[in-house]
Amino acid sequence: MAESGIVLGLVGSPHRDGRTNRIVSAALEGAASAGARTEIVQMADHVVEACKDCLPWVCQNNLKCSYDDPAFEFLSDKIRSCGALVMGTPVYWWDTSGMVRYLILKMFRCFARNGSLNGLPAMGIGVAGGTGNGLVTGLRPLYQFFQMMQMRAIEPLPVTRFNMDAAERRARELGALLAEQARVPRPFDGVEDRLLWYDALPYLSLDRVGERTLLANLVVSAAGDRADPEVARGLAAANVLAAGGDSLGAMKEITRAYDAAMKAFDGR
Ligand SMILES: Cc1cc2nc3c(=O)[nH]c(=O)nc-3n(C[C@H](O)[C@H](O)[C@H](O)COP(=O)(O)O)c2cc1C
Repeated sequence: MAESGIVLGLVGSPHRDGRTNRIVSAALEGAASAGARTEIVQMADHVVEACKDCLPWVCQNNLKCSYDDPAFEFLSDKIRSCGALVMGTPVYWWDTSGMVRYLILKMFRCFARNGSLNGLPAMGIGVAGGTGNGLVTGLRPLYQFFQMMQMRAIEPLPVTRFNMDAAERRARELGALLAEQARVPRPFDGVEDRLLWYDALPYLSLDRVGERTLLANLVVSAAGDRADPEVARGLAAANVLAAGGDSLGAMKEITRAYDAAMKAFDGR
């Protein structure tokens, strides 16, 4: 069995012991169970500075930020030398955390045109720990990053506080898969197969109705017996409305079901 490089886990939260850390750690445990060496890095210890968009654009040739930014140097070196990447962000306002975004933007500026990460296996985790909103929109910037850097990402993991245990189990499975893929990286032939690869990944192309349905289903499952059976019927009615093209009607049904399940879940 060929050995791969290290499976690197980045935790993009200020809480070193928080939910993002828990799910990224589970992915690394899965990778380790499949024989990979792993390393976890807390991005809170290495907060990248904002890209200054300096000109002329020499960092793309020097492969180094022109400004002194030890955090960026540290993180970019780790990413460029790993065998596979697990990137986890908490969801902030339906988006990534700021520290994740700053890293991504500087990586684009310095390395996106270089292509050296073509085929690197990667996996993104987004943890929406409040309302659960943004469980998909928060993942998209990670997958935009992977795609632009030509990495070969596996399926994303949308996490909320309503599905933490299941997400932890899934993270282990996906971590093991990532370790397998790291043994035989598969670079893309060109932009065409890369774009089609990303189009085929689950969750990322969900529309708003789809994303809210996913979230409502998670809350309804988490509420279990505490939720009125009417709630599940409301979600079924929403599916019918959406299939008939009544997106607004579907959204309203989904919101009703979500609100009722949330009340049951929180014991209100
Ligand atoms: C600025 C800010 C914005 C947030 N926005 C959202 C949000 O849009 N959706 C959500 O479900 N939770 C939101 N949250 C809650 C975080 O997603 C939640 O606390 C997350 O679980 C934190 O992960 P951590 O424990 O790894 O830090 C927000 C938290 C902060 C601080």
